[in-house]
This record gives sequence, structure tokens and C-alpha cells, in this order.
Amino acid sequence: MKWISQFSLENQVAIVTGAAGGLGQQLVNILLDAGVKIALVDVDKKKLNAFSKKIDPSNTKTITQVCDITQKKDVVHLIDVIDHKFEKIDILVNCAGILGADSPLLDVKETEWDEVINVNLKGTWLISTEVSRYMIERAIKGKIINISSSLGLRSQLKRIPYAASKAGVEHLTRNMAMELVQHNIRVNCLAPGWMNSEMVEKILNGPDGPKWRKTIPMHRAAEPEELTGALLLLASEASSYMTGSIIRVDGGYAYCGIELPE
Ligand SMILES: NC(=O)c1ccc[n+]([C@@H]2O[C@H](COP(=O)([O-])OP(=O)(O)OC[C@H]3O[C@@H](n4cnc5c(N)ncnc54)[C@H](O)[C@@H]3O)[C@@H](O)[C@H]2O)c1
Repeated sequence: MKWISQFSLENQVAIVTGAAGGLGQQLVNILLDAGVKIALVDVDKKKLNAFSKKIDPSNTKTITQVCDITQKKDVVHLIDVIDHKFEKIDILVNCAGILGADSPLLDVKETEWDEVINVNLKGTWLISTEVSRYMIERAIKGKIINISSSLGLRSQLKRIPYAASKAGVEHLTRNMAMELVQHNIRVNCLAPGWMNSEMVEKILNGPDGPKWRKTIPMHRAAEPEELTGALLLLASEASSYMTGSIIRVDGGYAYCGIELPE
């Protein structure tokens, strides 16, 4: 059973952005179970504090930091705080993201486009750059895990800025991977599809539920624990020969035929 130790994450320190969100909380729980110390990062102070209180009331295994990933000063401060408390950063999980409005192409407002691209693409680039700088200076064998979506590959109506931002995140992953390979920093991407949440359940069980279920080859959303394998793989030495990879955990959604306007 020696091979299983490749998945060990003991004594690792991670940042998870968007940690107060549905998916972010799930990823944090998986990493905490694996023994990782985590900086919980989000712009939503109330949600972040409530989550942090629930999982680590004494703040021994976590740092709770309000930080807007699109703001360099916030990101630089975040890195200082983590360095002070945990003295290193091994893993960055870029989970902060926004969906934007449900608008067809001709109705997308310029402000909506800017907002989605700013958080999902610029924010991912900005924090990844600053964390890479930190890792390079300390010769840390780092792992960066970007979170994309099936929509980084497949088309879906009324998701123009979001889909473009996630396609951008996937290509950013490949380009960052090539720049950082010389520094022993690996960059990979986890691309989920429909995740079980209150909102997703409402859609899949609502009047349009049968239509949406048909578009997912497995006809269901993913349970939170179904991301565990991919996350532990990308965060650990078990993926030591992987960089620039996109792992889709989406029941086949990205590869299924796309809908067209009626
Ligand atoms: N939930 C799904 O079904 C699903 C599927 C595929 C991909 N994703 C991706 O997973 C990620 C998380 O999605 P989610 O469903 O948890 O969404 P969510 O809205 O529940 O969580 C996103 C979190 O990001 C935070 N955030 C937004 N802007 C930020 C900023 N500038 N700086 C720091 N934090 C910021 C929000 O406050 C929120 O807590 C997103 O990137 C999303 O695109 C989600």
C-alpha cells in the first residue's frame, strides 16, 4: 500500500478562494479532512465568518481572510498573513467565481461582461501570479488548481461572459503551466458540471427539470464527495507528472450535444 502515500497532504498549506461558496466549502472540507491547513478566502465576510466558525472555531487549522481576488493590495496582504501564521503556501485552489446574468448575447450589458471576466479570469490570473511569485522565491514545489466548468468547453445559451471566462481559465491553466514548469510549480484545472446545491436541485426538480436532465449524460448532478478524487489527485504528489491538464468531473456534460435556440 506504499502508493497510497502519494496522496498524502499532511503538513500542506492551501489557499481556497471562494471558500464561503457552495463548492468552495466542499473543497475546504475535503482538504481539511486530508490534514491540510487552509486560508479561507472570500469577499463575503458574513458567509465566510459563519463557515469558519462552524469548521474551525478556534482558528487553529485555518485562517479566515476577507480578500477580493481582483485587488492586488488584498492579495499581497493575504499572502503576508498566511506567511506570518503558516510560513508557507503549497497549494492554491482558485474557486472564487461568479455566474453573471442569465442573458442572451444581444442583451448582455457591458458592465456584466466586465464583472464576470474581472472576477473569473483576471482574479484567477492575479492571485495565481502573486502566489507563484511567493512560491518561486522560496523554491516551493507548488500546486495551483484552477476551477473551470463544463462551459469552459461546451456552449450553453445565455452564458456568454461566463463561458468565455471559463474557456479563458482553461487556457490560462495551460499557459501558466508552461511558464511555471521550470520552477516546479504545477498548474492544473478541475472542471465540474452540475453540482448538487439548493439552486441546482430546484432547477432539476422544476418544470424544466426533465429537459435539463436529458442534457447530462448521467442524468443527475454530482454529489459533493464526487469531487474528492480529482481534488486530492491534483493537490498531491499522485499527480507529479501532470501539468496543464483539465480534469472534467461532470457526468459527461461537456461532451454532450449542445442546445440551440428554439
Ligand atoms: N456550483 C456548480 O454547479 C459549479 C459548476 C461548475 C463550476 N463551478 C465553479 O465553481 C466555483 C464556485 O462556484 P459555487 O457554485 O460555489 O458559487 P458560489 O456563488 O456559491 O461561490 C462563489 C464564491 O466566490 C466568492 N467571490 C466572488 N467574487 C469574489 C472575489 N472577487 N474575491 C473573492 N471571492 C469572491 C463569492 O462571495 C462566493 O462565496 C465558481 O468558479 C464556479 O464557476 C460551479
